[in-house]
Amino acid sequence: MAFPVQRPRRLRASPGLRTMVRETVLTPADFVLPLFVRPGKGEKRPIGSMPGHFQWSVDTVVGPAKEAAKLGVPAVILFGIPDKKDAKASGAYAKDGIVQRAARAVKAACPDLVVIADLCFCEYTDHGHCGIIKKDAAGFALDNDPTLELVAKTAVSQADAGFDIVAPSGMADGQVGVIRKALDGSGHKNVPILAYAVKYSSAFYGPFREAAESPPQFGDRSGYQMDPANFREALREAALDVEEGADMLMVKPGLPYLDVLSAVRERFGLPTAAYSVSGEYAMVKAAGKMGWMDEKRTALEVLTSIKRAGADFMLTYHALEAARWLGA
Ligand code: PBG
Repeated sequence: MAFPVQRPRRLRASPGLRTMVRETVLTPADFVLPLFVRPGKGEKRPIGSMPGHFQWSVDTVVGPAKEAAKLGVPAVILFGIPDKKDAKASGAYAKDGIVQRAARAVKAACPDLVVIADLCFCEYTDHGHCGIIKKDAAGFALDNDPTLELVAKTAVSQADAGFDIVAPSGMADGQVGVIRKALDGSGHKNVPILAYAVKYSSAFYGPFREAAESPPQFGDRSGYQMDPANFREALREAALDVEEGADMLMVKPGLPYLDVLSAVRERFGLPTAAYSVSGEYAMVKAAGKMGWMDEKRTALEVLTSIKRAGADFMLTYHALEAARWLGA
């Protein structure tokens, strides 16, 4: 039976009706707040391409973490800018490394907040790539297996520091498996792995690289991050991470890859996250600032679309603002 019996507009006629039939409801509990930590004391350095975000020091990062907890945002993910970088990314697995210290401070201040460790080396290497680099006449490559040794070491160091979840994002083959083994072998059987299973080589990471001071000094990341054109490859990547022991899967970026997110969620059934990355945030902020789009409505629409596509939770730089908007 069609029109005139069927009139879909009947259910859109009032705010009450619309609320009753709404299929996707965003809440602050859907968000994870990314935070950047740098050395020093009393720091709050604005990040130009990410208005409203700052590089914090260990003492000040506790502020936004508390704010997240207060607003009902259940988790934060920490990124570190170490005081010195080297070819072996020593700062990533130092006992008193920048994120290790930040995690201890945040857990002490907010014991119930879930603190996630991003496990990657681009912030810690002097060349800005996500692992050990092998250079030869043909160019350079990320040396996969030696990088895995550092991955294992870093995971243990992060779990020792009190991180609740380890999230490998370097796209080294086999990283989830070595992390599971290293955590299990060091008394951290119960620390879950959130695998950045599907991570594209994306222009949307631009602002992050300013924030984390991690742009590659030569070449790009297309030798290890995925080609934006590929969908089936994403499912193969996710399948490998499931097999290696991932507890949760992530797709990154979010908005330009909703098809992939939806397929990963359907196919594997694990808790699935999306990373709405720095460029997604910067676009919405910039258009809002110019008066070209309404920032609040646009941001909430983007986040709703990510949830509708299948995300159980999402990493977003709008976490605090969106939590406030939803609470109001
Ligand atoms: C890798 C990493 C990146 C982001 C988070 N972790 C990307 C990269 O530079 O390749 C990007 C996140 C964002 O853009 O918000 N350590």
